[in-house]
Amino acid sequence: MSHLLSIDSLSRDDIDHLMRVAATMEPVAQRRKVTRVLEGAVLGNLFFEASTRTRVSFHTAFSRLGGSVCDTTGFTFSSMAKGESLYDTSRVMAGYCDAIVMRHPDQGSVAEFAGATHVPVINAGDGPGEHPSQALLDFYTIDKEFSRQGKTLKGAHVLMTGDLKYGRTVHSLIKLLALYAPMRVTLVAPPGLEMPNHLIERVSRQGLDVEVRESLAGDFSDVDVVYTTRIQKERFTAEMSEGFNLSRDFTVHRAFMDSRCNPSTIIMHPLPRDSRPEANDLDVDLNGDPRLAIFRQTDNGIPVRMAIFATLLKVEHLIERDLRDVPWFVPGSVGVDDAKF
Ligand code: NCD
Repeated sequence: MSHLLSIDSLSRDDIDHLMRVAATMEPVAQRRKVTRVLEGAVLGNLFFEASTRTRVSFHTAFSRLGGSVCDTTGFTFSSMAKGESLYDTSRVMAGYCDAIVMRHPDQGSVAEFAGATHVPVINAGDGPGEHPSQALLDFYTIDKEFSRQGKTLKGAHVLMTGDLKYGRTVHSLIKLLALYAPMRVTLVAPPGLEMPNHLIERVSRQGLDVEVRESLAGDFSDVDVVYTTRIQKERFTAEMSEGFNLSRDFTVHRAFMDSRCNPSTIIMHPLPRDSRPEANDLDVDLNGDPRLAIFRQTDNGIPVRMAIFATLLKVEHLIERDLRDVPWFVPGSVGVDDAKF
């Protein structure tokens, strides 16, 4: 691995390695241990699109490895606003930083940026393209939840709903799951927001059992994971935006989970969820329900992103011998509604 731009560049062995390294990061991510393996290293964290968790968790992950971080957010305060090319920006940043994380609204832009440097570049989302680190943390979450439940990945059934056309997280996740076939994936999207056909064809060829259904009506009792996503309205054409309202028939809520799924089905979402009532995104009536894994999923962003940095910068073998105890106060759990298993 020299950059992390797409799931396309990862083999199953690479992913298994990252999952193992992420597990060794847990004591640091959970604030029980401190490590300084990246002391002296600098991360360039470049976000040209809105972000909270991806930007902050990359920043936190690098900091918890002992490195420091330079951030830029938005075009307004960067030289791209003066017409600087991706090539020039990349070469300049590579002279300052040991790793670069970048989010940009154009598909393919992060790969173009990475083409100008040998410094490792991580794609934190390129428009509707991909978001590989999110897929890795989603997969880590599925694996961890399954271990707790005594389930195996083999033959698991994942339901993906919401905006499957513009949602880059599901594009990366379906590619990743295809590497672990046999698995089943059911896709349910509102009209016009279906998963691109080229992706369905490709993962089906790899042995993933893909079923497309038109709605959430019907039986989903053999589904292990409901993975729901926000409608990416910011990527709509003017024509699409006009009069678009997501019907509540596509909402994952408590009644859907209770009547159509089974008690061990977990609920995931890359977040943010649009909590305005008219958005009909993942319903807040599931808050506090132990099946809701969304904050366990965001927490998992830290060990997984630490594993990505440690692997790209080749320090993963140093972690275990570099651990020290945390001296400061850390609460037993971070959220007031966190499930106790
Ligand atoms: C997503 C993204 O930006 O692709 N969020 C994330 O990174 N966790 C999903 C979204 O914006 O809906």
